[in-house]
Amino acid sequence: MPTVVIIGAQWGDEGKGKIVDFLTEKCDYVVRFQGGCNAGHTVVVGDEKYILHLIPSGILHKNKKCIIGNGVVLDPKSLLKEMETLVSKGVEVDNNLYIAKHCHLIMPYHIAIEEQAEKIKKIGTTKKGIGPCYTDKIARNGVRMIDLLYPEVLKNKIQANLEVINFLLKNLYNAEPLNREEIFNQYINYGDKLKKYIADTDILINQAIDSGKNVLFEGAQGTLLDIDHGTYPYVTSSNTVAGGACTGAGVSPIKINSIIGVVKAYTTRVGGGPFPTEIKDELGEHIRQKGGEYGATTGRPRRCGWLDLVGLKHSVRVNAFTGIAITKLDILDGIDKIKVCVGYRYGNTILEEFPKEIEILENCTPVYEELPGWRESTQGIKDYEALPDNAKKYLQFIEDSLKVKIQIISTGQKRDEIIIKE
Ligand code: GTP
Repeated sequence: MPTVVIIGAQWGDEGKGKIVDFLTEKCDYVVRFQGGCNAGHTVVVGDEKYILHLIPSGILHKNKKCIIGNGVVLDPKSLLKEMETLVSKGVEVDNNLYIAKHCHLIMPYHIAIEEQAEKIKKIGTTKKGIGPCYTDKIARNGVRMIDLLYPEVLKNKIQANLEVINFLLKNLYNAEPLNREEIFNQYINYGDKLKKYIADTDILINQAIDSGKNVLFEGAQGTLLDIDHGTYPYVTSSNTVAGGACTGAGVSPIKINSIIGVVKAYTTRVGGGPFPTEIKDELGEHIRQKGGEYGATTGRPRRCGWLDLVGLKHSVRVNAFTGIAITKLDILDGIDKIKVCVGYRYGNTILEEFPKEIEILENCTPVYEELPGWRESTQGIKDYEALPDNAKKYLQFIEDSLKVKIQIISTGQKRDEIIIKE
């Protein structure tokens, strides 16, 4: 602290939600800075399970200011639903949530166009309109949160966008066109409901930092899904790396004090795209079952594989992690031999750096180092010394290879199933 960025170091679903939830205890502000409601952070508090898509998981703590930053793309319908669910479970949302005036809105036509496009070119998106919304942002056609409070602006933007979208829906996809009035009325109504949360969040965050408050920036997805640094085109539409926190919240890089990379003790990936260490036999299924590796948002089964140090080194480089949090160590309990990928074999060469060429990544085979597993259960262990020797060796191997200190080890779903190793 005082400012810390939490980043997924792999392909997302590393268990960032739990680490963020744990660190939030010490924070005053929690900020989401990229992505949309395609993220699904699962946090277990007592016997209650919360799945948060858009609202920072800090909302589950009392009196924490939660900010949806300008880098996020926001679907008002899904946000309102999420707020409703939280309120029904007794969570206080009203005085703790702020939404950037300048974050972009997901519109019904983004979802419609993505659904159609996905039928033709399967990227494996969550079909929530995230990609088309970012496309409009970059093409300067986007509708921003603040537009909901200016009906004329909103009307004109919807009209201009629908002229193009309806043409495409009708002529390219042979699909039903969308109704302008309906969308306009729907979004004016959202504006009414959400206006009390709209704020100059960049000012708010910088004031908080300057006055010595602790601010946590909560990343969604993972580094290998970054639009620039990930396995393009099998990526998400935003910058998931630490730098994204600066642009997505309006904070200078010199104001960031630490960056924690969340690394799952093995690797998973959802949807298509290269995955060199994927385990395709029963062991992969065992990890999927034990680790509950099904999408929090879509329920899709995640592909499971061994830890990939080549990918992680890339992640360490582009993020400059100051520390690492290892999650789900307990899922590896009882596996006889644990493999770790230390290089990629491509033709006659061994690659030590993560290739940018998707064709190479798709056609390389992992070079593994094999480490002995452990029979004992690590679930719920809170003291590093109590870990089985082979688990400690596994962690040490990761730390030595990545040259970044492991500061946190998560050994279960619950808040207190965690080891702090400073
Ligand atoms: P994205 O932002 O969508 O990438 O999500 P995420 O990184 O927050 O991961 P997600 O919440 O989808 O997945 C983590 C799952 O693992 C949740 O069900 C957590 O409760 C659970 N989990 C987190 N840490 C541990 C752990 O150490 N052990 C076990 N057994 N489960 C854990």
